[in-house]
Amino acid sequence: MKNKSLGVALVALTLLSATVLFVGCKKEQAATDPAATETTQAPAPEFAEVPLDENGIPYISEEFGSEDIYYAPKGEATLTINQIPDSDNSECLISNRGTNNSGIYVPVDDFRCNTINVATSVKSMNANILLSLQYDIYGNTTYVTIAQCAPSAISYTRVGGEIQIPNNATNISVYIEAGDVKDIMVDYIRVSVVGDYIDPATVPVEELMDGSGYPSLSELYSDYFRFGVAIPTTIVPNENEEFRNLVSHEFNSITLENEMKPENILDGETCLADPATYNESPALDFSSLTETLDWAQENGIGVRGHCLIWYSQTPSWLFYENYDVTGELASRELMMTRMENYIKGVFDWAQENYPGLFYSWDVVNEAIGDNGGLRDCYWLQTIGDDYVQLAFQYAREYADPSIELAYNDYNEYQPSKMEDILEMLAPVAEAGNIDVMGMQSHMTAGLSVDSYVEAMNTYADELGVSIMITELDIGAPNSANPLYDQGVYYQEFFEGLIAAVDAGTPIESVTVWGISDDTSWRSNTTPLLFSGNLAMKSAFEGVVCAITGDELTIPDDYVVVEADYSPIYEDYENGEFIGFTRYSSVIEVVSDNPYEGESCLCNSEGTATYDGYCIDVSRFAGTSIHYSFAIRCDTDTCYFTADIENEWPHIEEIDTSSGEWILVEGDYDVPANLTYLQLYFESIDMTEFYLDNLSIMVIEEGAEEAELTEETEETAETAETSEQGT
Ligand code: XIL
Repeated sequence: MKNKSLGVALVALTLLSATVLFVGCKKEQAATDPAATETTQAPAPEFAEVPLDENGIPYISEEFGSEDIYYAPKGEATLTINQIPDSDNSECLISNRGTNNSGIYVPVDDFRCNTINVATSVKSMNANILLSLQYDIYGNTTYVTIAQCAPSAISYTRVGGEIQIPNNATNISVYIEAGDVKDIMVDYIRVSVVGDYIDPATVPVEELMDGSGYPSLSELYSDYFRFGVAIPTTIVPNENEEFRNLVSHEFNSITLENEMKPENILDGETCLADPATYNESPALDFSSLTETLDWAQENGIGVRGHCLIWYSQTPSWLFYENYDVTGELASRELMMTRMENYIKGVFDWAQENYPGLFYSWDVVNEAIGDNGGLRDCYWLQTIGDDYVQLAFQYAREYADPSIELAYNDYNEYQPSKMEDILEMLAPVAEAGNIDVMGMQSHMTAGLSVDSYVEAMNTYADELGVSIMITELDIGAPNSANPLYDQGVYYQEFFEGLIAAVDAGTPIESVTVWGISDDTSWRSNTTPLLFSGNLAMKSAFEGVVCAITGDELTIPDDYVVVEADYSPIYEDYENGEFIGFTRYSSVIEVVSDNPYEGESCLCNSEGTATYDGYCIDVSRFAGTSIHYSFAIRCDTDTCYFTADIENEWPHIEEIDTSSGEWILVEGDYDVPANLTYLQLYFESIDMTEFYLDNLSIMVIEEGAEEAELTEETEETAETAETSEQGT
């Protein structure tokens, strides 16, 4: 684990020049970075031993100034450590980034089975920076986003978050990546344990389960739709056969989770080495797909192609003249030609090598932006508003007619997103170039199944297409029995799908986005059907019960929930609070002009308006509550909002234009039977805001709760802080 000599060498260099180069090893490096040619193959990175804090708990604080090194370049990237002039601090410049996911990584194997907090501070011209976790699960690699931010190019932006590292993970690292290949400056990377530390040495990696005795979903649902799963190509050559055995037993469709995305099919090395030859028709490389697709064919498993035209996981060089990211963006005409040739190249290859294997293809993925309208992206910038229509036109021209062409998106069941998607796809449907609406369906248990079914019917009716549920994963709710409740919801959801098909909704396939929770890109929410070692979860049983009519088993460790109506009161004087940030804002107790006493709470650095301080009050379902709080903000309006089963009604609109503390109070009836309710604060333009004396209490219990005995009231008090985190 140690390499003091490398550390010493780096420090010696630092003293000489205040600059150290650390180069990731990749072939293209020499072409773009002359300085790097001298060090072409960087030595395999070796890291200092992770230090322990005074309680014997590992803690990494990489400030880039010390001889102990915990980082290395990830992929193709040059790391340069610069001492900040007139200070003792150093920063790390990540340049010559070959791909969006190349950057810097820090190994965190010492933190296996723990929840960690990862924090960094970045400066960059990239529109967004992602802090991610990577690990292997029995030979399959998983990537999970921990947090992201829209950084500034001038000053540092903090980004951080918590993530649970699965017990069965190996080769674990956190890394920084971006939406584009521009440079990134990093001030520090810190990794610490959240909650009680579990020594990984005491938790062995579990044995994999053999799933061959589980009921087969594809057989059970054969009268309804294909049942698919997203997989990485690693499961076919994997020495652990359990993964591929489970897939061939359970499913009759696969989607490659990452390997057929443009970043993996476009042959960057060839294009960049000879841009003139490949200027109009980028070179493509399908060699990494052969083994998995041959296996699918041998096992009678159909394949969904995912995906052709997308703003993400598509290399930036594709959009530049001569494939040179330091030059100008390519013209509309050139990009239309590249798009056409890319689409043609992929479909020609499919037809030549695997006729009949692909039954559908995502032609365009996620073209609608999070704030409505077309998403700003390179395709839009180079080709213009009609790039979606053109993509479908080319796809129709070159795809074998047996391949159904799909548009694919997330939050597709939300009314405003639906409106935008329908408007965008109307001319595509009119031209007869689309066959399928791909409903990604990254959801959380609780979403109304009726409105989901209604959304499917609207797409089917208005566009004349069939429906494929393409990336289903349903996060477990934040409840006392999250995995069981998730199973109940999976059952309800599939009962809804069965009823919908019976009533004529044209659902052709349902694909779950990953095999096990630990291989899920949303592993934090345990959203899939099997757990890390392939044990079946209530979620799987729920899907089975939906079609067999059996009853879901109540687990032995089921927790009977006692009503807990203990009030919430926070004055921040002792530095404590039970709430948490929604997504990425920074929440801290500060002494900056409090409403009362010495302290108040500050919410800052949100990257979206809804990144606000949030308190989970699900335990107040079915009651009337009274809230009061003091709020101060330098912008005109703040909101007190509910996050209730995928709707976000404002409970209070607060005029904060005076910049002074405003006292707010009111009552709110919390609906009964909800999966979760979170109340949160937000400012209209992400300006930081301050809170003090926050109180939420039940003033009237619901009908069911009125029977609450004194005894349960007493026991309930102990559970007060159990709702932290999501
Ligand atoms: C995700 C993969 O699951 C991750 O492994 C990868 O790091 C990022 O992409 N919408 C899509 C999928 O269409 O391609 C995304 O897959 C999830 C969101």
